Formats: sequence, structure tokens, C-alpha cells
Amino acid sequence: MLRNTRGSYGVGTIAFHWTIALLFFGQIALGYFMQAVADRPRLQFNLFQWHKSFGFLVLALALLRVAWAFSGTRPLPVAGGPRWEAAVARLAHRLLLALTVAVPLAGWAIASTSPLRIPSFVFDLIVVPDLPLARSDAMEAFWSQTHALLAYGAGLLALAHAGAALHHHFLRRDATLMRMFGFRQR
Ligand code: HEM
Ligand code: HEM
Repeated sequence: MLRNTRGSYGVGTIAFHWTIALLFFGQIALGYFMQAVADRPRLQFNLFQWHKSFGFLVLALALLRVAWAFSGTRPLPVAGGPRWEAAVARLAHRLLLALTVAVPLAGWAIASTSPLRIPSFVFDLIVVPDLPLARSDAMEAFWSQTHALLAYGAGLLALAHAGAALHHHFLRRDATLMRMFGFRQR
């Protein structure tokens, strides 16, 4: 089924979830790695272009996913856990949804405020225009720090979230994780 029901995740949510999760962790690794090759400027430049391209892809997918999530049903939490736990999980999901939009937006702001004015070619296909922000070294430094803080913060939250899913699967032995792979609750 394409859409969620009260007991299961649909193919749409599952596809968005795993595609964005993979790209998001990949982007954090690439962002970290590309900073570490400052002694190889050509490689670093190419990695920056890939990072920007995949970042815009995440932004587009994340916006579609937010629209998808708010236009459909949310499955009820798997029965058995305390109420506070379901509330924390819901808050974490909302924060993760927001961060998958905010992190690439902050990255876009770096490119838009950099006095170097390097155009953002997305996969060498289209040029994404810059955001209407003032350009200066100080603004670039501000967005660079904000982007790094949000990205690593989101990475830590996503790790805690993945840990919680594994806890459900291996210790509680409930259907929380398997639901995100399309298995139905018994
Ligand atoms: C899912 C989306 C993204 C994630 C998870 C992400 C993550 C990261 C991370 C972890 C770093 C390294 C930060 C550090 O160690 O200082 C970084 C750097 C950077 N990112 Fe992103 N990024 C994303 C999207 C974007 C986008 C869309 C752009 C631009 C269009 C962008 C531009 C940059 C730039 C220019 C840097 C280098 C910053 C600097 O010079 O300090 N990022 N990113
Ligand atoms: C290996 C890593 C991950 C695992 C094992 C995992 C697992 C899960 C599971 C089992 C659920 C369903 C929870 C429930 O029904 O209560 C879920 C939902 C969710 N996850 Fe993850 N997740 C991972 C990575 C991520 C990442 C990286 C993000 C975002 C940056 C993310 C964002 C979300 C969101 C927003 C939901 C709510 C449903 C939706 O709107 O898609 N997850 N995850």
C-alpha cells in the first residue's frame, strides 16, 4: 500500500525514510571528509560540488517528505511502551523531519554568503541560484558554524533514534523496526 494506515507504514513513507537516512548519513561523512583534504585543493573542490549536489537532493526530497507526512495518517505507536516514550519518539521524529530541511538550507546559506561566489551546479545539470543574503566573510563563517552544528546535532539525534529502533527490535522484540521495512503488525 502506498499510504500509511493506523497500523503500518506505506511504501511512500518507507522509501522516503530509508533514502533520506542513507543520503543524510552519507552527507555528514562527506562533509567531514572534504574538510580533511585541504592539502588537495582539486579533490576538495570536487568533493564540495558533490556535497552541494547531494545536499540539494536531500532538501528537495525532505520538502516532499514533509508534505507527504502531514497529508497522511501517522501509524499508532506499537503497543506496550509507556506514554512518555511515545511522546519523546514523536518529538524526535518531528525534529528529524525539520533538521533534514534546515541542514541543507544552512548549507545553501554558506554558498550564498561566500564572497568567493562559486555557483551551485547540481550534478552538472542545473545552477541553483543563491539565496538573497548579504555576502561577507563574517556571514559565511556564521552559516558555516550553524551548518556544522545542525548537521552534527542531527547526526547524534539520528544515532540515538536508530539506537532506540534497535532496542525495540532486539530487547523488546516488538514490531517497531520491522514496520519501517513494510512488515505488518501481528
Ligand atoms: C543533508 C544535507 C547536508 C548535510 C548532512 C551536510 C553536512 C555537512 C557537514 C557535516 C559538514 C562539515 C562541517 C564541519 O566539520 O565543519 C558540511 C560542510 C559544508 N557543507 Fe554541508 N551538508 C548538507 C548539505 C549542504 C548543502 C545543500 C550545501 C550547499 C549548497 C552545503 C555546503 C557545505 C559547505 C560549503 C561546507 C563547508 C563549510 C566550511 O567551509 O566550513 N551542505 N556539511
Ligand atoms: C539506521 C538508521 C535508522 C533506523 C534504524 C531508523 C528506524 C526508524 C524506525 C523503526 C521508525 C519507525 C518508528 C515508529 O514507528 O515509532 C523510524 C521513523 C522515522 N525516522 Fe528513522 N531510522 C534511521 C535513521 C533515520 C534518519 C537518519 C532520519 C532523519 C535524518 C530518520 C527520521 C525518521 C522520521 C522522521 C521518522 C518518522 C516517520 C517518517 O515520517 O518517516 N531516521 N525510523
